[in-house]
Amino acid sequence: MPLRSREWFGKKGKDGFIYRAWMKNQGFPEDVFDGRPVIGICNTWSELTPCNAHFRDLAESVKRGVLEAGGFPLEFPVMSLGETLIKPTAMLYRNLVSMDVEESIRANPMDGVVLLCGCDKTTPALVMGACSVDLPTIVVSGGAMLTGKFRGKDIGTTDVWRFSQEYRTGQLSEEAFNLAEAGMCRSNGHCAVMGTASSMACMVEALGLSLSGNAAIPAADANRKRLAQLSGRRIVAMVNENQRLSAILTRESFENAIRVNAAIGGSTNFAIHLLAIAARIGVPLTLDDIGRLSADMPLVANLQPAGQYFMEDLYYAGGLPAVMAAIKQRLHLSVVTATGKTLAQNIATATSYNPAVISGADAPFQFSAGMVVLKGNLCENGAVIKPSAASAHLLQHEGPAIVFENIEDYKNRIDEDALPVDKNSVLVLKNVGPVGYPGMPEVGNMGLPKKILEQGITDMVRISDGRMSGTGFGTVVLHVSPEAAIGGNLALVRDGDRIKLDVKAGTLEWLVTDAVLQERRRNWQAPVNPFERGYAKLYTQRVEQAHLGADFDFLKGKSGSEVLRDSH
Ligand code: FES
Repeated sequence: MPLRSREWFGKKGKDGFIYRAWMKNQGFPEDVFDGRPVIGICNTWSELTPCNAHFRDLAESVKRGVLEAGGFPLEFPVMSLGETLIKPTAMLYRNLVSMDVEESIRANPMDGVVLLCGCDKTTPALVMGACSVDLPTIVVSGGAMLTGKFRGKDIGTTDVWRFSQEYRTGQLSEEAFNLAEAGMCRSNGHCAVMGTASSMACMVEALGLSLSGNAAIPAADANRKRLAQLSGRRIVAMVNENQRLSAILTRESFENAIRVNAAIGGSTNFAIHLLAIAARIGVPLTLDDIGRLSADMPLVANLQPAGQYFMEDLYYAGGLPAVMAAIKQRLHLSVVTATGKTLAQNIATATSYNPAVISGADAPFQFSAGMVVLKGNLCENGAVIKPSAASAHLLQHEGPAIVFENIEDYKNRIDEDALPVDKNSVLVLKNVGPVGYPGMPEVGNMGLPKKILEQGITDMVRISDGRMSGTGFGTVVLHVSPEAAIGGNLALVRDGDRIKLDVKAGTLEWLVTDAVLQERRRNWQAPVNPFERGYAKLYTQRVEQAHLGADFDFLKGKSGSEVLRDSH
């Protein structure tokens, strides 16, 4: 296969002169244009994305590996999404970043790509964009932070919700709250629990898109740089072997990723991102597939928020290869991965060094912990719940709805004394879906009313068309589809309506008669889209629902790497 970079650097005459001459202003010698593979390093470094702030360093390690293997590394930036700073929500921009990535790769002289991914949305956005071009591609994750410390105890992002509840009820002073803040994020890297970023790092390793061990090496560990350097070497070999993304991302590899996400108690956001990636590469996959394949999986990794430990502990206990070895009976072991080897070969010697962190499948931390997909008249196209992060006594529950029309309504009224709420109420939040917010923010695990917290109650059933942080917990039904803003039945629920959740049966029912439902539908008015221009207009007009991956309808599939026209 001729390298596509030869269409630029291999040209003779005026065109070749232009392509090479301007590159030489960076001091590159003539021989880097001699036909060696050009490797793009897609960097989401930004000081506004603290989880990815060490990526310039990581890119240098990748470059070393590329050079050692005889390639020509060229680093390029794409838009970066820092989960904590971006307003109104980083998810609004995932699809935009994926477009940036896709077009940057296709438009430039690259033969292979290394994706540097870290904070939550940077991983799915980069993988989605790369899938639509389908060059040889390898992922290097940034790694998690070292475990946080506060008052002699380990803390992680999951504790933010607890600290904030204790601060609101006066159990934690402002001074202590500030100390916890300073101890939380004490090294480079992304959130140190099995939140969305860690789930995404595990997803890429389980899909076979990275070198073995990529998911769990802490950002601050020298082995992270070693893995980056080895990934740089490997991508050159992948180009020489023409091992494209579509050769790795098969139906079997997606099924492996679903099984692994269940076994680690991974984020519910996994469902949305995996569906979007599958649709880009062209592998048929549904939300029901995720529910079916997750349902009977044992939880073999004891990690917060479902369990006790942190990503650092997962690494010391053997990392994701040890997790995959523990559930190998449930995986497709013959899939070929970015290592050039099969999954069976990758995990042949993997073992758990600490059964308190990674157990065997026969003695799991929970027997059935995977995400459950719910169906019913409140979520006709599906909704999800993560039982491993929920309260066992609420998994079958019926109660009256307390309805908030939007997030502002929730914030204004949640702590009102007059709110007719008790521990059996079901909190319903509307208009936080892909179209309604827009961008489907992580507000689904809304905090409980102060008067409920003061009774010592820490969980209630909550339902919304939004998402939840992978670090969140509670009996929280998410991703209700169709969402309220496009007229899903969720839009019609009112205070006092009874709602029945049965996680075991996989159902979420709104207990109203057909006559009431029809009458409310007749009286429902679609909200006016306030966005008259710009990206938000594009987003609200073209984003699909959560059960399809919340991608833009026109981005599904791939256009390949060919560029048809040339302006020189
Ligand atoms: Fe970046 Fe959690 S804020 S991974």
